[in-house]
Amino acid sequence: MAKVLVTGGAGYIGSHTSLDLLIADHEVVSVDNHVNSYRESIDYVNQLSKKKVAHYDIDLCDKEASRIVFEEHKDIEAIIHFAALKAVGESTELPLLYFENNMKSLLNVLKLADEYDIKNFIFSSSCTVYGQATDLPVTELTEMKEAESPYGRTKQLGEYILKDLAQYSDINIISLRYFNPAGAHHSGLLGESSKKVALNLVPVITETAAGKRKECVVFGDDYDTRDGSCVRDYIHIEDLASAHTKSVEYLLNNNNQDPYEVFNLGIGDGVTVLEAIKSFEKTCHQKLNYRIGPRRAGDVVAIYSNYERAKQRLNWSPKYGIDEIMKTAWQWEKTRPY
Ligand code: UD1
Repeated sequence: MAKVLVTGGAGYIGSHTSLDLLIADHEVVSVDNHVNSYRESIDYVNQLSKKKVAHYDIDLCDKEASRIVFEEHKDIEAIIHFAALKAVGESTELPLLYFENNMKSLLNVLKLADEYDIKNFIFSSSCTVYGQATDLPVTELTEMKEAESPYGRTKQLGEYILKDLAQYSDINIISLRYFNPAGAHHSGLLGESSKKVALNLVPVITETAAGKRKECVVFGDDYDTRDGSCVRDYIHIEDLASAHTKSVEYLLNNNNQDPYEVFNLGIGDGVTVLEAIKSFEKTCHQKLNYRIGPRRAGDVVAIYSNYERAKQRLNWSPKYGIDEIMKTAWQWEKTRPY
């Protein structure tokens, strides 16, 4: 059992991971500036785990304000760093904001980790670091191509910084490259709840079905894929959360093979946009109001993972597929308390 600092702890992946850590008997300290998350998620993490997250409403871009967390918890053993801006489209409109926020908060957390002698660090990375991958599925050895957006570039830069840091200091670091996180907690009490308008496919589908949007637009059906729509690897949020707990334990048990390691987290299977819609219609027993629209700028045609390394080294495998993602996302949409 260890005390783990989760930055962005009230966010979508942060809240599910905090719950998973608490259930596995770890302690959680959380920091979030709530720029895109609600405090209520922490209440539900506490309710579901019957434990209490030590939560701080702080912006990690303010290093001195963040210091209090480290002063009050000198026994933190590992950090999972989620806190970041993550909207691809917004990052093309506000690149400087993305570079400033995502890089500054990362560097501040790393400097504080150094000062307070915390040796285990997990970074929230993304399959977006691969850019337009051509050899599928992608493995961790697949080269990083040009980032498709400033958001993607912040993930690439973050990984380069961490790789060097692990080489030239004594911190152990893991970058977890998520494919497309989706779905909600099976309790129906935790799910994706952003302050910004949802732009990702699964919330767009469920919000359309709930009548919050007029329609779901499929961004292009003329790609070179089996039905013409883009292919992605959708991973259930609970599977993603459990990979973080396993990564923390892997580092704490000194099982890591190198000071810096990278893991793909996906289900290893590609699903097209039209197949995702069919899965929703079948699993949730209703027709979705959708139409085919033009391609979206910056979209990668197809990407899905090979997660063999996470399976071998972390002893992690995903349990759920697209149907369970749709089922839980729909349950969340219908009953969400915030
Ligand atoms: C991208 C990034 C991912 C990042 C995420 C954060 C890549 C490969 N992935 O995911 O790393 O974490 O943004 O936001 O860069 N779609 C529609 N209609 C919609 C919405 C989406 O057809 O209304 C389609 C998209 O064209 C895409 C698929 O659904 O083919 C998934 O889109 P989305 O959920 O936005 O995720 P990515 O863009 O794949």
